[in-house]
Amino acid sequence: MEIRYFNTLESTNNYCKLLNLDEVEEFLVVCAGKQTAGIGQQGNVWVSEPYKNLTFSIILKPTFISAADQYQLTMTFAVAVADAVTELLPNEKTYIKWPNDIYVGDRKICGILASNQIKQDFVALTICGIGLNVNQTLFPDCVPNPVSLKMADGQERDTDSVLHLVLDKLQKRYKELHSGINNIEEQYLSLLYRRGIEASYQYKGHNILGTILGINQFGHLILQCSDGKTICSSMKEIKFLI
Ligand code: BTN
Repeated sequence: MEIRYFNTLESTNNYCKLLNLDEVEEFLVVCAGKQTAGIGQQGNVWVSEPYKNLTFSIILKPTFISAADQYQLTMTFAVAVADAVTELLPNEKTYIKWPNDIYVGDRKICGILASNQIKQDFVALTICGIGLNVNQTLFPDCVPNPVSLKMADGQERDTDSVLHLVLDKLQKRYKELHSGINNIEEQYLSLLYRRGIEASYQYKGHNILGTILGINQFGHLILQCSDGKTICSSMKEIKFLI
């Protein structure tokens, strides 16, 4: 596995997009100490104090995954990072907040932004960007409910050791996915934040009470509302009220 380290990049995901991806080996990792324009989900910026955290991307070529099964990749990446966080923080409860945020308790420790290229109905290439809060202890107010490994247990860590642990877990889970013998969905559901617990959401602009039942094959969230209706929601339609 090749790891390219950079002091500063605009965004590790954007760096990967500019590569000649036909020539790139699978498992290329691009890691930056500082991102000047880190990208988050839904057009947000990813805020991370330079050199304190992990901001990296990994390139995969999961040609064995059909376009219809892309959510398998989302689940695999989230479970792998949750594996690493669980190992690092054995005394905390690690969750996956749908679809792919990693939470410690009610706070976000990691965000994942993956984009897939589809060719002839299969995933030709994935760029999976991961921002994991390691040693940062102060966050600007614009970052909702953040936490880092250090905030959780007081320990300062070598970011490179954490990177290698996360990469080990990613490789292991990815191999399981490739083998076809895996229980990735079961693992994902067992880690799903608020599953089976009634809580508040904003759905299509309205505040509702609901209970997460699971996800459908496309990765949409299935929620049982307090009025008895079941809804199936995409990411744009729902906001967790935390
Ligand atoms: C989220 O909003 O939850 C996703 C955040 C993803 C951030 C990572 S940091 C490394 C990679 N490069 C980026 O510009 N974004 C991702």
